[in-house]
Amino acid sequence: MRPLVATVDLAAVRHNYSRAKQCGPGRKAFAVVKADAYGHGAREVVTALRDLADGFAVASLEEAAEVRAMAPEARLLLLEGCFEADEYGMAAQLALDVAVQGDAQAQGLLDARLSRPLNVWLKLDSGMHRLGMSPAGLRDWHARLKDAEQVAELNLMSHFACADERGHPLTETQLENFVGLLDLPFEHRSLANSATILGLPQAHMDWLRPGIMLYGASPFADLEPKTLGIEPAMTLTARIIAVREVSAGESVGYGGGWVAQRPSRIATVSCGYADGYPRTAPSGTPVAIRGLRVPLAGRVSMDMLAVDITDLPAAGLGDEVELWGRQVGIDEVARACGTIGYELLTKVTKRVPRRYLGP
Ligand SMILES: Cc1ncc(COP(=O)(O)O)c(C=O)c1O
Repeated sequence: MRPLVATVDLAAVRHNYSRAKQCGPGRKAFAVVKADAYGHGAREVVTALRDLADGFAVASLEEAAEVRAMAPEARLLLLEGCFEADEYGMAAQLALDVAVQGDAQAQGLLDARLSRPLNVWLKLDSGMHRLGMSPAGLRDWHARLKDAEQVAELNLMSHFACADERGHPLTETQLENFVGLLDLPFEHRSLANSATILGLPQAHMDWLRPGIMLYGASPFADLEPKTLGIEPAMTLTARIIAVREVSAGESVGYGGGWVAQRPSRIATVSCGYADGYPRTAPSGTPVAIRGLRVPLAGRVSMDMLAVDITDLPAAGLGDEVELWGRQVGIDEVARACGTIGYELLTKVTKRVPRRYLGP
C-alpha cells in the first residue's frame, strides 16, 4: 500500500457543528456538505452528524440523493436550486428545500406539477452578484409564490461575498439589503456562513449555514482555528520513502530550483500533486515529522515531494510526515500557496484513501 492517508476525525466535525450552534443559540443550522463534504466524505460526515444536525445543504440533485440515502428525515437544502425545470419533480420526491435564485427558476417552479409542495428559499442578490434576485424582483416573486400550490414554506436566504475579511464594508451593505426585505412574511430566514456565524451575530437570522468551520479550517485569513474554538478534521499523512545526502551546490527535484546551501539530508515523501498536495507550494512550506516542522525543498512532483531534514537528524526512512492537520494547519499551507483551505480540502484526490476516527 502506498503510504498516504487522509484521516478524518468525525468527533471534530461533531464538535465544530456544536460550536456553530453555540455561536447562535436558538438558531438551527444546515451543515454544508456539498463537494463530498468539502472532501471529507459526505456519507461518513452525514452519518456522523445526522442525530445532531437540523439539516444539510448541498449543491446539486446528485449530492442531495446521496445525502438523502444517509439521512431520510433531515431537511436538505439545494443551495443553487434546480438547474433544469424538470428537476423539480425529483426535488419533490427527495423532499428537498430548494433555493430559487432567479426568474427562470421561479417560473419553472410555478409551472411544475409536483407530488408534494416544496420548502422554497427565495435567494436575494444582496451584493455578491453571483446568484439571486434583486430586492424588487424578490418582492414580486414573493407575491406570486406565497399561495402557489407548489410552495410549502416561503423562506428568504442570501450569501456574503467578503465575510472572510472582518469589517469589510460590503458585509454591512449586504446585511442592510437583507434586513430591508424583512417586512415581508417569511417562514424562515438564512444568511450566515462560517465567517459570520463566528463573527457577526446580527447576521444569524433563523438558520445558520456552516461549511468550512465544520471541517476545522478558518474562514478568516488572520485567525487560527484554535482561536475560533474549532478543531481540524482532516490530517493528511504520508511517509519518508527515501533519504539521501546532497552536497552544497547540488539541486533537488524537477527544474533543479532548490540548491543546497550546505551539505543537506533530503527526505523523499509519498505525496504529490496528483494526491491534491498543491504543486504551487513553494520551498520552505512546512511539514511535520516527529513533532517538528521541516521545510519543503524543491518542486512538488506528481507522486512525491522532498523535504530538507538536515536539522532533524533523528528523522529517517519510514517516518510519518504530516502534510496538514493538527501540527501544520491547512490554512498555513494554503496561505503559502496563495489559496484557501477550502480549495486544498476539496482537491484531495480519489486515490488518497480516507480513514475515519470516531465519533
Ligand atoms: C450559499 C452558501 N451557503 C453557505 C456556504 C458555506 O460557506 P462557508 O464554507 O464559508 O461556511 C456556502 C459555501 O460556499 C454557500 O455557497
